Amino acid sequence: MTQAMRVVVLASGRGSNLGALLAAQREPDARFEIVLVAGDKPEAQALRIAEDAGIATLALDPRGYADRASFDADLFARVAAQEPDLIVLAGFMRILDPAALAPWVGRMINIHPSLLPKYRGLKTHERALKAGDATHGASVHFVTPELDGGPVISQVEMPIEAGDTPASLALRLLPLEHRLLAATVDVLAQGRVSLEGNGVRFDGAPLAAPLRLDGRTLAA
Ligand code: GRF
Repeated sequence: MTQAMRVVVLASGRGSNLGALLAAQREPDARFEIVLVAGDKPEAQALRIAEDAGIATLALDPRGYADRASFDADLFARVAAQEPDLIVLAGFMRILDPAALAPWVGRMINIHPSLLPKYRGLKTHERALKAGDATHGASVHFVTPELDGGPVISQVEMPIEAGDTPASLALRLLPLEHRLLAATVDVLAQGRVSLEGNGVRFDGAPLAAPLRLDGRTLAA
């Protein structure tokens, strides 16, 4: 068997996407292995989930650092020590220093609860409802210095129904996010996806539109 892709997950909160990746990693055909879960909130549930799964954790408190750049430099030095092939931001609620991020562009992804380029930033469910959108969804994208602005690899879309609230949308979207993230890490682990300039390549050709989640797998 070829070597499993080494993954570091960064998370600040509840950790349900981390949980989905851990479940995917336990599948017999898994092609990746989470080697570290790191976060900026020592009390985060995500770190407890990692500990329970026997995964190494790292909690760094930004309040112990002079500024963002020094926190990010330390965080990414420790992440780099694990020699990851991929860094996954799974609810990591910090803007990254561009200098710390630069070496990882093309090897770092983020899951975002909107159909990017719509609704970068926060309150995505509320904004989709207010706009009267017919559908909502989630995206996985390569991380670049622009917040939620990097090239989109994959998306999942679902209808918005009459009577939906931000909470009901969030609840319905979450299990789809989990499948989307696991499937996207899997195609990355297979070496089928890469960042080329400002675009995504899939199976050697430029991707004209994000991959779409169909059941548990991704299709162009
Ligand atoms: C998810 O909605 C994800 O899309 C966003 O932050 C949330 C994290 O949830 N980036 P969890 O911590 O994975 O449960």
